[in-house]
Amino acid sequence: MFKYKVPYVNLSHDHSLIKKQILAKVSKLLHRGDFILGEETKIFEERFAQYCGTRYALGVNSGTDALFLSLKVLNIKPGDEVITTPNSFLATASAITAVGAKPVFVDVTPEFNMDPKKLDQKITPKTKALIPVHLTGRPADMDPIMNIAKKHNLHVIEDAAQSIGALYKGKKTGSFGVANCFSLHPLKTLNACGDGGMITTNDASLYQTLLQLRNIGLKNRVESDVWGYNSRLDTLQASILNIKFKYINNWIQQRRKNADYYRKNLSDVVACPDEQKHEFCPYHLFVIQTDRRDELQAHLDKNGIETKIHYSIPIHLQKCAQSLGYKKGDFPVAEKQAERILSLPIYQTLTLKQMELIVRSIRKFFNK
Ligand SMILES: Cc1ncc(COP(=O)(O)O)c(C=O)c1O
Repeated sequence: MFKYKVPYVNLSHDHSLIKKQILAKVSKLLHRGDFILGEETKIFEERFAQYCGTRYALGVNSGTDALFLSLKVLNIKPGDEVITTPNSFLATASAITAVGAKPVFVDVTPEFNMDPKKLDQKITPKTKALIPVHLTGRPADMDPIMNIAKKHNLHVIEDAAQSIGALYKGKKTGSFGVANCFSLHPLKTLNACGDGGMITTNDASLYQTLLQLRNIGLKNRVESDVWGYNSRLDTLQASILNIKFKYINNWIQQRRKNADYYRKNLSDVVACPDEQKHEFCPYHLFVIQTDRRDELQAHLDKNGIETKIHYSIPIHLQKCAQSLGYKKGDFPVAEKQAERILSLPIYQTLTLKQMELIVRSIRKFFNK
């Protein structure tokens, strides 16, 4: 069925392990019929908030909508600037443009995340918020980021789309900012069978407004005091997510074991991500770096191993970002990384045999 001996992800296999449970839930839901904002959505939201250590979590249509609605609820609008990183998925910046604000980029550290040392010089009187992205699942350096935000009176919205389960100094990502955003896209570690996203917050008033914003602005069946959107997490998706959520910690442990295996066997031939004492990385992605990235990717492809690049074009160099006025050379660290990065399969159901094949193929490429 697959072109690859090792596909980048294997959703059909992952789902075969829990298919019975999923079908039983779907069957119950068809009987009950509470398809929109139903009981399972509420249960999932409560579990999610508990997992992240926040007072509230609410389900929305996607990670992109989570970012858009978080910006919206904080009244970020045309004329405002929001600082984020240029090496994220396009959605981070497009959510900023969707509220009419201007994305301003700051370069990243060797760990792929917002470089707090370069933040001050990007802040202007128009800056209203920072969106640090926990790229690959590795937490951004939140202490200095939160201090800078406090000093300049800026909102922090975490883009935790890739970082479910990550800890920074013992605290979960998605619990630092005023509103924080997760993606439940099928390629994420905790994934729906379709689109889905979550916002976490400790702020009761933001939470109440977000409940309205995601549901056409309604505060009850008939009344509204804000214009809103249709961005709800389907009960069907929440039912499936409630099943998957039971396994999240086991999956993360397995991903961490896989990461250790790669590190042990590849660190002498390619740059592998390390993990510092204050971090707990869930390895949504395992990104290696080499100057011969394109050749290596082609070699692995020939050997039946599928890899990906997250992401090959930094956002400031995308055509859609032209009007922002950036050029090649503006963010040298992110640009260099974009030429060298390669994401290896890291999912929890990867077998030792598959990882051995990956390691063997990479070592062979480097004649090691
Ligand atoms: C860093 C980052 N931000 C935002 C998103 C957007 O999430 P979604 O695809 O659920 O809209 C994603 C995932 O696709 C992502 O990886």
